Amino acid sequence: MIGSLNLPHTILNVSVNSFISTLGFHSQTLKLTWYIAALAVDYVLWAKILWCSAASTGEEPYTIAMTACEAFGTLKPPVEIYATDIDTNVLATASKGVYPYERVSKLSEKRRREFFQKGTGQNEGSVRVRNELRSLITFSQLNLLDDQWPIKEPFDAIFCRNVMIYFDKPTQTKILSRFVPLMKPHTLLFAGHSENFLYVSNALQLLGKTVYQVKNVASTPRTAVKHGATV
Ligand SMILES: C[S@@+](CC[C@H](N)C(=O)[O-])C[C@H]1O[C@@H](n2cnc3c(N)ncnc32)[C@H](O)[C@@H]1O
Repeated sequence: MIGSLNLPHTILNVSVNSFISTLGFHSQTLKLTWYIAALAVDYVLWAKILWCSAASTGEEPYTIAMTACEAFGTLKPPVEIYATDIDTNVLATASKGVYPYERVSKLSEKRRREFFQKGTGQNEGSVRVRNELRSLITFSQLNLLDDQWPIKEPFDAIFCRNVMIYFDKPTQTKILSRFVPLMKPHTLLFAGHSENFLYVSNALQLLGKTVYQVKNVASTPRTAVKHGATV
């Protein structure tokens, strides 16, 4: 049952450098891995659908994709990532998946080797995200302020990082209230590290530092939190 994930401790204790940032690719410990890995263990038969709602130039959705590959131990994890943004220019960059080498220079050598191809000749100094990773992600335009979102299905995780800052409090409240029906009981909502959604929504409860879940569906903290896996 989806609402009663029994997360194994060994998986929860996995901590992998992730690198979601507005500033580009860099190493940042973010324990998204334990969540995806736990889903992998319990629900390997179903594809996980994740939404990155302000994907910008792609670093965030590619980070999610890399984390999923590592969690599932394959370049073809059962994961679909919807990456949206209001800005079609940033989406074009994201979808191309080509970055100056400096953007990935802080990643581990292993990640650079597994997930990027080095440009040669004219493309010297650039890297390109491997096709397998790109194929996990669908990029499309979506304005969070639009009355209708072309998205109906519930997600296993929603990422809404570093975009709420653009909106006033009532708008933030409205957006969060629209996320709630798109969240299943186990769904995690990821905020940016300096954001706090509890000020603008009473439908959510905090798990760890910047991760939320719909309130009242799990009256006790998830196993992950009990065992000290802060996110
Ligand atoms: C600071 S970047 C955050 C990128 C990424 N989430 C991160 O944390 O690294 C903010 C992004 O929000 C997008 N954005 C701004 N207003 C938006 C809106 N109304 N709907 C969707 N995206 C929006 C911008 O185009 C930009 O790409």
